[in-house]
Amino acid sequence: MVGKGFMEAKRGPTRYLLVGMVIVALVIGNISMTFAQSPIPSLKTVPVPEPDNLGDFVKDREAAIALGKAFFWDMQVGSDGIQACASCHFANGVDSRSKNQLSPGLLRVDASGVPDPDHTFDRGVNYTLTPDDFPFHKLEDPNDRNSTVLHDINDVASSQGVFNSIFNGIVLGRAEELVTYQPDPDGFQVGGINVRRVEPRNTPTMINAVFNFRNFWDGRAQNDFNGVNSFGSRDPNAYVYKAVKNELVKITVSLNNSSLASQAVAPPLSAFEMSADGRTFQTIGEKFGRSLPRDKGKKLLPLRPLGKQIVHPEDSVLGGYSRAPKRGLDIASYEEMIKAAFKPEWWRSNKYIQINSDGSRTVVDKKTSSETYTQMAYNFSLFFGLAVQMYEATLVSDDTPFDRFAEGDEGALTEQQEEGLQVFIRRGCSGCHGGPEFTDASVTKVSQGKTRIFRGQLNDQGFFNIGVRPTVEDLGVGGKDPFGNPLSEARLVDPAAFAVEGAFKAPGLRNVELTAPYFHNGGQLTLRQVVDFYEREGDFVPILALNGSRISGLFAINFANDQEKEDLVAFLTALTDERVRYRKAPFDHPQLFVPNGHSGDHTSVTDDGTGKATDSLMEIPAVGRNGGTPLAKFLEP
Ligand code: HEC
Ligand code: HEC
Repeated sequence: MVGKGFMEAKRGPTRYLLVGMVIVALVIGNISMTFAQSPIPSLKTVPVPEPDNLGDFVKDREAAIALGKAFFWDMQVGSDGIQACASCHFANGVDSRSKNQLSPGLLRVDASGVPDPDHTFDRGVNYTLTPDDFPFHKLEDPNDRNSTVLHDINDVASSQGVFNSIFNGIVLGRAEELVTYQPDPDGFQVGGINVRRVEPRNTPTMINAVFNFRNFWDGRAQNDFNGVNSFGSRDPNAYVYKAVKNELVKITVSLNNSSLASQAVAPPLSAFEMSADGRTFQTIGEKFGRSLPRDKGKKLLPLRPLGKQIVHPEDSVLGGYSRAPKRGLDIASYEEMIKAAFKPEWWRSNKYIQINSDGSRTVVDKKTSSETYTQMAYNFSLFFGLAVQMYEATLVSDDTPFDRFAEGDEGALTEQQEEGLQVFIRRGCSGCHGGPEFTDASVTKVSQGKTRIFRGQLNDQGFFNIGVRPTVEDLGVGGKDPFGNPLSEARLVDPAAFAVEGAFKAPGLRNVELTAPYFHNGGQLTLRQVVDFYEREGDFVPILALNGSRISGLFAINFANDQEKEDLVAFLTALTDERVRYRKAPFDHPQLFVPNGHSGDHTSVTDDGTGKATDSLMEIPAVGRNGGTPLAKFLEP
């Protein structure tokens, strides 16, 4: 109960939280002594970042969180009526599937930075990974990067999304959209039959992602949300419509601390993750709308939230609306949930917005074409992004053995884990994975500066090239936004900034025991493999694509002996919150069916009759606030 009260307090504005923390500190009394024991404080000391102007949009927090949780887990959001956000984030925030999870190397560029995708699968399409495939760069002596390379693959272990298809339209009352399947241009085919496409970077966890100043490995999900897409104020043409008196007014919005909202509006339109190519957010809004016309005299029903999935009656957020054993929520439509969560000026107008063929918009009095939308459908990206962000902001795992230790419970860490904590600091891990968030890409660190000098180089706070793969295979934050500007803040400050190409966001390390495989390419299976990687100072010397310069000695970690490495790994397992492992609130969830590769293997698949391979769906049963058995980790027998 104490824990829950605290969570609620944390959702309040930062200043109240800080006042609250001081009071807690005074009440506990010995808190300063406590912090002296652990050089890194508990995550409970860090306020959960929140937009200052959230109140301009959200009417009811609880309703917004419920809406966000429903959106996140709902299979109807995908164009195929199968693919949910959760399909790739269902196991401890990540993806534990091992079949059809390889991507061939699509982000490769040539020496002048021009895209040069690799379409060759080193291990095969619809392949099932085994522990022997790891690490992807396997050396005879894992402590020596110059020893014989036993094998090296540039494939990426990630998550399967949708089949390649083109969007044609929606059918009201139906989750599956009208699409045309097209031969896959990127090689996701076995014997000419399409398989689900796989993302080109490994799937990171959304748990604690609220603490990241920017999200995605390359930081492209901007901290400021524009209500429309991932690019914040970088996009000069992003606007939504607000009802002012009887008019609909075009308006630019900006919410700070909203990288998660900027992130959440990307997958629903991604032709890899959830969408047929060419779908818009307005059509998703229309698909989930309530005002349906009669079809040959028959009344069409709107899509029921989570209509294909059972919701546990004790779900910590949605339990009150469960219809178990029937599927879905006891709420007729998403329209009702949006009205409960958001202020009416964002949805109440009875005028329509017509999208013209030249891309311009006209406000009209009635629906004139299939490209004419209600205000609610038009602003759907705003609702989707903010609601998902508010749900994800509750996914904070701040009750690990490490946090308890930092709060003064001396017995919370084993002796070996305590040793490991010292190694973590002594060997410089905390120089990049800093603070209770265990990443320098956090809101806390970035508030001290978006850029900083690290080992003599100007870089983006919390982004580093540590030589996981050759730099040209993926430029990371060295890439550009759709407007041609560098993603890198360091590059914006100094166009000659050097340590930018191939730099990736240092991930937070909480629950890392549960989130294999590791790194942006998913190329390491165990934490010991990661630690060995650091001992040999990475697998590749960072070579900068643009000018061929090498950066050496960007980091060098020398462990005294094997014992230090083992202690360090033991410490990393002290960052697991048992509520995550056992899927207890707030980490409980509805039922989900996830595509788990295709029947057959990497040499043959069966055609489902439409030119695509037959899915094998895996059921993840619903759990309530008290959780359930842990889900198997990646490649756990
Ligand atoms: C097909 C699999 C897939 C689906 C579906 C998917 N994701 Fe992800 N998610 C990924 C991958 C892969 C990345 C990393 C991409 C990158 O960094 O370029 C990612 C990144 C993220 C991150 C950033 C975490 C970080 O530390 O940077 C968050 C948060 C997230 N996803 C939430 C969501 C939400 C919300 C949805 C639905 C709207 C969603 N995901 C749908 C695979 C998926
Ligand atoms: C120079 C900065 C830096 C230092 C020092 C550093 N890391 Fe990292 N760490 C990163 C970056 C950046 C990544 C992501 C790299 C990538 O995928 O390309 C990462 C990734 C990881 C991962 C994988 C997490 C995941 O979810 O994939 C683990 C585990 C990890 N580091 C642990 C450590 C440990 C333990 C140490 C100390 C021995 C350490 N790091 C030192 C920057 C650093």
